[in-house]
Amino acid sequence: MIVCVSLAIALGVVVGDINKKNSNSEGGIQWNATSQRVQYNVGYGLYIDRNDRLYICDFPNDHIQRFSPPSYTSPGTTVAGNGTFASTPGTLNAPSCVYVDNSSNMYIADANNYRIQLWLAGASSGTTIAGTGVYGSTASSFGDIYGMFVDTTNRQIYVADYRNNRMMIWPFFGNASTFIITGINQIMDVQVDAAGYVYTASNTAGVGSVLRYPPNSTTGGIVVASGFTFTEGIRLDFYGNLYVLNSGNGSIQMFCASSMPSSHGVVVASGLSYPVDITFDSNMNLFVLDLTAGWVVKFAKL
Ligand SMILES: *[C@@H]1O[C@H](CO)[C@@H](O)[C@H](O)[C@H]1NC(C)=O
Ligand SMILES: *[C@@H]1O[C@H](CO)[C@@H](O)[C@H](O)[C@H]1NC(C)=O
Ligand SMILES: *[C@@H]1O[C@H](CO)[C@@H](O)[C@H](O)[C@H]1NC(C)=O
Ligand SMILES: *[C@@H]1O[C@H](CO)[C@@H](O)[C@H](O)[C@H]1NC(C)=O
Ligand SMILES: *[C@@H]1O[C@H](CO)[C@@H](O)[C@H](O)[C@H]1NC(C)=O
Ligand SMILES: *[C@@H]1O[C@H](CO)[C@@H](O)[C@H](O)[C@H]1NC(C)=O
Repeated sequence: MIVCVSLAIALGVVVGDINKKNSNSEGGIQWNATSQRVQYNVGYGLYIDRNDRLYICDFPNDHIQRFSPPSYTSPGTTVAGNGTFASTPGTLNAPSCVYVDNSSNMYIADANNYRIQLWLAGASSGTTIAGTGVYGSTASSFGDIYGMFVDTTNRQIYVADYRNNRMMIWPFFGNASTFIITGINQIMDVQVDAAGYVYTASNTAGVGSVLRYPPNSTTGGIVVASGFTFTEGIRLDFYGNLYVLNSGNGSIQMFCASSMPSSHGVVVASGLSYPVDITFDSNMNLFVLDLTAGWVVKFAKL
């Protein structure tokens, strides 16, 4: 754990967790501090699939757009939704995040329809995999969702139920959640690591916080408790390091996997307007959706 932290300080930027690396790369990872614009978009969620294709949840336009590497040029391909908000199987209403599995099936948080849709690869419509389609606060419904995590191995979805201040686990096609952590104020995102630890991003009076819960536990350890001006999101990388958006500050901090739940973060990106989501491609290039700037930007791995 010392190695990760001290390397980060020495580099002035980031590092992978050398204890968890699964390739022949070195422990240190460093990004160019200057970002490049990749794609103009005012969406809310980002995802990069195993083929390095970039998906943007185009929240205001009610569809999911996909862009191909290396240039990610416009106009991209519409892969879900038809651009008109509605609640039919072929439409979406303010999609806020998407997860894509290894078979190119998409799991979409269809926020204003209060449902999570599964769109099989190439399909022109989706099937509801969680939620009723109607706002609710019971174990078998939820409110607005801006973050989720999909666990295809155990066939369940971790839902950040913003409006009801709680994290819920829903089995695929289940009628109700099987596990709920309540009292997570203004929860914006949820991530789960390889050991089943759950990370939540929440906010109280404009201050962001991140907690880490052991599997099946409703008591979390603190990762972030102060200094963040609202956090819209978090993301784990392939090594288990955690990235936390300091949205109001236009910056991103990384927390080393091996020292979790450490509160020792390192700023790895700054100069952003208001980041709402972050993801990585297979080369560990860092992509950020900078909402108020309207751009997806890339910080190239050096
Ligand atoms: C970082 O990016 C800038 C702008 O694209 C470029 O001019 C510079 O050479 C890059 N630095 C490194 C070390 O690659
Ligand atoms: C999208 O589908 C809905 C529901 O079928 C329909 O009302 C709407 O006109 C369609 N929009 C476009 C742009 O095709
Ligand atoms: C998806 O594919 C990647 C490699 O392409 C592999 O590492 C990963 O385990 C796969 N995920 C699942 C859930 O099968
Ligand atoms: C969900 O509810 C439907 C209708 O009541 C029922 O047929 C189905 O078995 C239920 N599914 C689960 C996973 O409980
Ligand atoms: C968590 O609870 C589920 C359901 O009760 C159980 O199957 C699983 O083994 C538990 N996981 C851990 C790590 O205790
Ligand atoms: C806020 O952003 C500045 C750079 O723009 C950075 O130096 C500072 O560390 C950030 N604050 C936090 C708490 O991340």
